[in-house]
Order: sequence, then C-alpha cells, then structure tokens
Amino acid sequence: DKPEDLKSRPPIITIMGHVDHGKTSLLDAIRNAKVVAGEAGGITQHIGAYQVKTDSGTVLSFLDTPGHAAFTSMRSRGAQVTDIVVLVVAADDAVMPQTVEAINHAKAAEVPMIVAINKIDRPAANPDKVRTDLLQHEVIVEKMSGDVQDVEVSAITGQGLDDLLEAIALQAEILELKANPTRAAEGAVIEAQLDVGRGPVATVLVQNGTLRQGDIFVVGEQYGKVRALINDKGERVKEAGPAVPVEVLGLNGTPEAGDVLNVVETDAQAREIAEYREKA
Ligand code: GTP
Ligand code: NA
Ligand code: MG
Repeated sequence: DKPEDLKSRPPIITIMGHVDHGKTSLLDAIRNAKVVAGEAGGITQHIGAYQVKTDSGTVLSFLDTPGHAAFTSMRSRGAQVTDIVVLVVAADDAVMPQTVEAINHAKAAEVPMIVAINKIDRPAANPDKVRTDLLQHEVIVEKMSGDVQDVEVSAITGQGLDDLLEAIALQAEILELKANPTRAAEGAVIEAQLDVGRGPVATVLVQNGTLRQGDIFVVGEQYGKVRALINDKGERVKEAGPAVPVEVLGLNGTPEAGDVLNVVETDAQAREIAEYREKA
C-alpha cells in the first residue's frame, strides 16, 4: 500500500468478561442507545457485529461474539479481528476466573484493554474492590495511577455508556488504525450458516480494501461471487469498506468463523485456491 492510500478506519471492539457480568447487556445497551429510531431494520435485524457513532462522531465496530471461545478460535485460525478489548467486571462481584482468562487473551494478542466496571447501579457495587483485584493481575487502571482506562457503567440504567464510548474512541485515536479502501477486499468470517431461503450466508468483517457486489472471492475452503451485501441494519448495500460488517450472499458452501476472505481476479482462481485448501 502506498502511504497516501491508507485511510483511518474504525476500531473493532470485542467485549469480554466473566459469565453473567453483563457482556450481552452492555452490547445491547450500546446498540439500543445509538441506533436511530425508525432506521430500516431497526435493532431487531442483527448480524454478528454492528457499528455505532459516538456523540463526538467516531464510528466504532462492535463484535457480537460470544466471547473468549470465539476470540481464541478466530485467533488460532489466523484472524486477528479485535483492536480493543472491553473487559467487563461486575462491580458487585469481583475479578473471577474468566476475567483473568480475558486479561490473558488480550495480553497474548497484544490488544489494549479498557475496563468497564458494570452493574454500578447495584447497591452492593464496590468498584474500588474491582480496581484492587485487577492490580493482582497487572492491570493498573487510571484511578490507581495506571494507564488502563476504567469506566463505571450500568447496562441497565445507561449510566456511563457515553463515557465508555468516548474512552474507546480515545484508545482508537492512539492506535491510529489505518486501512487501504482502494485495494481488493480482505476480511474475516464472524459467523456463517446455511440459510433455508438464501443459501450459505457469512457475516464478514472487512479488514482491508472494499468488498463489492460482483466481487469473486475465496473464503477458507469455499468460494463464490458476491450476489448481495447486507449491512448491520438489514439494508442492502453495494459495498463495504474497512471495519464494516456485512452479510455476504453468493457462496458455494458454508465457511467457518475465523476463515479469511480474499477477493481474487477470476472464478477459476477462486475455485483452484479453494480446492487446494480443501486437500491441504
Ligand atoms: P454470559 O453471556 O452468560 O456470560 O453473561 P453476560 O456476561 O452476557 O451477562 P448478561 O448480559 O446476560 O447479564 C447477566 C445478568 O446481569 C442479567 O440478569 C442482566 O440483566 C444483569 N445485568 C447486566 N448488566 C447489569 C447492570 O448494569 N445492572 C444490573 N443491575 N444488572 C445487570
Ligand atoms: Na448470562
Ligand atoms: Mg452473554
């Protein structure tokens, strides 16, 4: 890529944390707070990732993965699809085994972390206990004079959600994430299934380049030609640029989460690469 072709792109965020600490609630709260009422498809039409815009105008892409398992298996398949990990810790609980796992995953992947101290609305909330617990695992938050941003939130009342989004936007700015929207698309499968009406459907997060209707691609051991692209709001779109999640129709078979998608020149090339991979 020529330097002048590199444009800043939205960050991709994964929420991780211990069971029941509020990962899903937080993802839903962010989505509900930031999806404009009356938008086509609304909040019901949801694919495995979505984008929101913060009040200060930064676009963020959230991955709706079920957490550690997906993060790890995607990483083991070669897909590094997270720029920032939001570590959710319930303020009325503490650092628990899966909190520690999440910390270790983020550290192994060298992905910066932001701590969301959730359930701050609960009477038993003790955010300082969470901060002290985190020290034991070498996560030193800002309130403890460290450099990991920590934000108190409630997925139920919405308290602190905008602060969390601004913390993510700030972290993203520091990372100076860039991609080249002019090149042939490269992306990663977030999830895929065989749909009765539509055939194999893959949710792909474009990581570099721009994916367009009509593009010929290979994805894992499968290949195809983009018949339609559907965005996170359920709308048909002609193209998807860096950090944009889309559903891709037009596959010959169902790929797996973590498979890498590459646009190629010809059908023959796509088939050849897919067949070679199948035999490998
Ligand atoms: P798993 O996916 O099972 O690991 O759980 P999770 O981390 O996605 O947690 P989930 O969002 O399912 O929340 C677990 C429970 O905590 C639910 O009953 C939520 O309603 C509740 N909860 C989540 N966030 C908050 C919060 O900020 N305040 C309060 N009071 N309850 C919350
Ligand atoms: Na739960
Ligand atoms: Mg959940």
